[in-house]
Amino acid sequence: MPGYDSEKCSFFTKNLMKWHKNYNFRMMPWKYEKNPYKIWLSEIILQQTRVEQGTAYYNNFLKKFPNIHKLASAEDSEVFKVWEGLGYYSRCKNLIHTARYVSDTLKGIFPTTYEGLLKLKGIGPYTAAAIASFAYNEPYAVLDGNVMRVLTRFFGLNVPVDTPEGKNHCSHLAEILIDKKNAGLYNQGIMDFGATVCKPKSPICSACNLSKYCTAFITNQTEKFPVKSKKIKKKNRFFYYIVASFKGKFYVRKRVEKDIWQNLHEFMLIERAQKSTVDSVLHHKVLKALGIETYTFLFASTHVKQQLTHQTIEACFIQIEIGKKQHIPGFDLVDVNTMKRLAFPKLIKMWIQSMI
Ligand code: ADE
Repeated sequence: MPGYDSEKCSFFTKNLMKWHKNYNFRMMPWKYEKNPYKIWLSEIILQQTRVEQGTAYYNNFLKKFPNIHKLASAEDSEVFKVWEGLGYYSRCKNLIHTARYVSDTLKGIFPTTYEGLLKLKGIGPYTAAAIASFAYNEPYAVLDGNVMRVLTRFFGLNVPVDTPEGKNHCSHLAEILIDKKNAGLYNQGIMDFGATVCKPKSPICSACNLSKYCTAFITNQTEKFPVKSKKIKKKNRFFYYIVASFKGKFYVRKRVEKDIWQNLHEFMLIERAQKSTVDSVLHHKVLKALGIETYTFLFASTHVKQQLTHQTIEACFIQIEIGKKQHIPGFDLVDVNTMKRLAFPKLIKMWIQSMI
C-alpha cells in the first residue's frame, strides 16, 4: 500500500466538505435523516436503483410501512409487492428478515454501532457505514462504486477496483480521508459529489474545486478511472412465457428455484438458449407434459429485453386459451384482480400492464 501525500489528503477532505456545504444542492427525502430505519430503507433501495426511481420506492415503503414494526408484521407478499421492479429479490428477503429481528428480538431498536449493524442480515460494510455515520455520526467511510471512482481519479490509483487489492487500497484511503468529526456530512458529500460532479461519463471538471490536485484531470485521463481487470461476460437467456388462460383467468406460479426472480410470479416458462420461433415453442414437450393438448393460439408478443447485472433476458409472451379447465401442477388459476396483487418481475409486470 503506497503512502499518501498528507497535504493532498487534507486538500481533498477540506475541499470536498467545502463543496458539500456551499454547492451541493441535491435534494433527496432521506438526506440528513437521523432515523436508522429510514436510512436503512433508503440505502437498501439505492443499492438497487438510481435516486430518481428510488425516491418513489422510498416514499411508497414509508407510506405502507412507516416504522420497523409495521414492516416486520407485514405479510411477505405485501413487502414483495412494494419491492416489485427493484430486482435482486434476496435483498427483499433479507429486508423482511432483519425487520422482524430488529422489531422482535431488539424491541425495535437498531444497533447503534458499526459492528452491531454489521451483524444484521443484508447489512454489509457499506450499509453499516452509511447508517452508523448518518444516524450516529460514527467515523466509518462509505465505499461504493461512486466513491471508488472519485478516489481513483483524484489519487490516480491504477489498481483494478474489482480485485481485493484494489478494494483494500480504496478502503484504506477512504479511512484516511473521512472527516472524523463530521462523518455523516462527509459521506453524504462524497456520494453526491460522485453522482453530480465526478460522474462516470463527462465529469464536470471545469466546475470542480478539487481538480487542481486531481491526477486524472491533470493527466487528462478521467475516462480511464476506475481501472477494471475484467469485462463481465453477460449471459443471454430466452424466456418464452405461455400465458394460458381459461375464461378470463390465468395460470400463474411462484418462482421457487435458486435462480433470478425467486419468490416472484410468472406464467408457464419455456427457456431456450437461443431465440426460437413461436411454433417451435408451442410444440415443446413441456406443454404436452403439462397436459395442455387442446388450445387456441391467440397472440404472440415481440421479444422484450431486461438487462440484469450478469445476464440479459429476452422474453416473448405467447397467449393461448385452453379448451377445458384443468389442474396444472404447481400453477394456480387466478383472476385479474388477484394477479394485480402478486409481485412479478419487471418485464412481466410491464407486459401485464400493457395487456390488461
Ligand atoms: N446512494 C446511496 N446512498 C445515497 C445517499 N444517502 N445519498 C445519495 N446517493 C446515495
